[in-house]
Amino acid sequence: MRNAWAPYSNFHVGAAIEAADGAVYVGCNVESASYGLTICAERMALGAAVAGGARKLRRVVVTTEVDPPAAPCGACRQLLAEFGLDLEVVAVGPTTERRWKLAALLPDAFTKETLER
Ligand code: THU
Repeated sequence: MRNAWAPYSNFHVGAAIEAADGAVYVGCNVESASYGLTICAERMALGAAVAGGARKLRRVVVTTEVDPPAAPCGACRQLLAEFGLDLEVVAVGPTTERRWKLAALLPDAFTKETLER
């Protein structure tokens, strides 16, 4: 979150993904003067995890400066779902935290199983 590049929104987000082997991959939001190109912290962390070879993910922790803590946006939920709806999602704010399974944040998800039907 400290390293976030968010000069337009001033909303700083950090994300850390823990893989099944305990390895941790981090990301932060990166904004662009062409606003629509902005990438969320969770998707940056997911990219780092995949590029690092991780395929089984245990948990994602998202940190923001707001309470109640901000949950991942819809696009990030969908991309995280690629690696399983059993993922634990932890949102951390300055004084409180919230936890879910990804399945609870993305009901009736469109997944690779959908494509196999
Ligand atoms: N943002 C994230 O990094 N993750 C989310 O799940 C929601 C939004 C970022 C994108 C943008 O840089 C800023 O927060 C405000 O939307």
